[in-house]
Amino acid sequence: MMSKPLALFVKHDGQSGRASVTCAYKCGNACFHEAPNTSENTYFGDIVSSLNRRGLIKGGAAAVLAVGVGGALAACGDDDESGAAVTPTYTPAGAAGTGTDFTAVAPNKEDAIVIPDGYQQSVVIRWGDPVLADAPAFDFERQTAAAQAKQFGYNNDFAALLPIEGQPNSFLLVVNHEYTTGPHMFRGYNKDAPTDEQIAITKAAHGLTVIEVKGEPGSGKLTPVFGKYNRRITADTEFLLTGPAAGGMFTQTGADSSGTKVKGTFANCSGGVTPWGTVLSGEENFHGYFANSDKVSDPTGKPRIKRYGFAKGATLNQWERTDKRFDMASEPNEPNRFGYVVEIDPWDPTSTPVKHSAMGRLKHEGATIYVTENGEVVSYTGDDERFDYMYKFISSRKIKAGTGQASMRHNMTILDAGTLYVAKLTGDHADKIDGSGTVPSDKGFTGKGAWIPLLETGTDGKGKSLVDGMSAEEVAVFTRLAADKVGATKMDRPEDFEANPYTGKVYVALTNNDNRGKDDKVAGPDEANPRKLNKNGQILEITDDHAGTDFTWSLLLVCGDPAAADTYFAGYDKTKVSPISCPDNLAFDVYGNLWISTDGNALKSNDGLFSVVLDGPNRGQTKQFLTVPRGAETCGPIVTENRVIVCVQHPGEADDATPENPLSHWPEGGAAQPRPAVAVVWKANGRIGV
Ligand code: FEO
Ligand code: CA
Ligand code: CA
Repeated sequence: MMSKPLALFVKHDGQSGRASVTCAYKCGNACFHEAPNTSENTYFGDIVSSLNRRGLIKGGAAAVLAVGVGGALAACGDDDESGAAVTPTYTPAGAAGTGTDFTAVAPNKEDAIVIPDGYQQSVVIRWGDPVLADAPAFDFERQTAAAQAKQFGYNNDFAALLPIEGQPNSFLLVVNHEYTTGPHMFRGYNKDAPTDEQIAITKAAHGLTVIEVKGEPGSGKLTPVFGKYNRRITADTEFLLTGPAAGGMFTQTGADSSGTKVKGTFANCSGGVTPWGTVLSGEENFHGYFANSDKVSDPTGKPRIKRYGFAKGATLNQWERTDKRFDMASEPNEPNRFGYVVEIDPWDPTSTPVKHSAMGRLKHEGATIYVTENGEVVSYTGDDERFDYMYKFISSRKIKAGTGQASMRHNMTILDAGTLYVAKLTGDHADKIDGSGTVPSDKGFTGKGAWIPLLETGTDGKGKSLVDGMSAEEVAVFTRLAADKVGATKMDRPEDFEANPYTGKVYVALTNNDNRGKDDKVAGPDEANPRKLNKNGQILEITDDHAGTDFTWSLLLVCGDPAAADTYFAGYDKTKVSPISCPDNLAFDVYGNLWISTDGNALKSNDGLFSVVLDGPNRGQTKQFLTVPRGAETCGPIVTENRVIVCVQHPGEADDATPENPLSHWPEGGAAQPRPAVAVVWKANGRIGV
């Protein structure tokens, strides 16, 4: 039987450029259903004045860290191992805007990566390309799970590029594979009855890839190598669950009475790199992988199931058919083992990756690290759902310098002990916010905020709840419910969250929220989320007391068509900026400029990558550096002095696209099937944006 027409996918109301099939497979239609945050948190109430300030350490000046060099390179410790000293790789911009001197790419609908004049591009690796030396070549018509488990996975999102010590121009490329779409991966796919082999292939196409890549002199091109670090992590790779959730009543299952050995990771969206050389990855829309939430018999589970958005009946991928752990009727605790920040040591292909429950369970977009000059490690994470929250984790252990095993062992435990906080914001012009996006005339949208403590985890892994009426284990596993109780601020889909390694200021991409203020049942506009029915998103800039609990904030960008009255580019001349919509992932270049990739452009153009000047007279100048092919989302941007790397996720994804009728033929062109892939852009004999 042929598959049902994809037009049967839920059609959204046209607010974003995303195809309905993307919403169904990627997010489990998170935006179609009522937003799961129905808590009565006031959006802008009084800031809790008596915060727990124990352990508050003023951050002072930013410690700038070089990350990921050769496995472990860290600062701020007093370890007697003589590891490499920290050498900041970031150099100040000379004139304001240095690094963004290129001709902006115009909005377009091309089936190509469109780049500025004078730049070149190539594809680094595509879905199905061999990762392990014994992997077969990709054959779209004859896929197998055994092959996929050794090949590059589907729908690349986050990417990290880590220099290999002692091997100039060689790197580890670490990439997340967020989700799969059977209707585009397989010819004649029956979405009501995928074959067992198709189910196994989609499981193997999730997770992460670690692969060595090599550069060439005078070019930015990168070529995969069958190196000793190459590894695939899939939905079946063993992980160790640590922290207050580990081994407890919510994480024990029929197959794992220890409650600590979890099979696999999936829905890995964005991520981060630690200064000790590991990679973090956020488990985001994990709810879409578990079937039959309506058949869970324990009545106490119902509000928890609702708050995380699990659906009734079968899942789209139907993994529950071949693996009962995805059936909540038989294994109600299995979903409690997903939704964490995971940490991978890419320098040891035999290592067991870790899931850190001390950092909470939510739809983690990613996790990014900032280290203060005192060595405190702060990790920021957004919970990507309409009306959900922003979190940070402050470690109690300080980072140790050195590349030796003792330092590495220590640093690998940093994210296991510390305090988890959620953000509450107030606005300076709260009485003037009417939902239109009209910018307050003095300093724009500005305000203050506080980080409210939820959970303190000791170095023994045991938790202490800081939320009335919830145990530490409950806070670790049902973190959203804990955050509801303390009155956290409901945001417009907080996605990537990054500290500028240069200035210490922290930036958050708030993608959109087409439900903001739509009726009396949901939160209305406020100063940080100032537009009703927000289609285009905004960028929040936070001046944070990193290891403390206070901050101030402003909106850097209110995205959309620059000609529209409700957009704002930090006061920069709006006739001289590129249109930008649905900001998602963030990165910084070596000059301290912010780069933003987009997901779901609501302005009828392909998604793209943009540079934004943050300092000097050109602050707010926003320029489109590239656009990705039809149907694709721009992910995982990395901007170095000589290269821009983007993950092109879901090229050709559209409701009516099939292998017989593809929307895109990228990257191979001709009549080829579209393949998610990582691409690199460079300027011959030159530096990016200079
Ligand atoms: Fe996977 Fe929040 O985007
Ligand atoms: Ca994302
Ligand atoms: Ca996204």
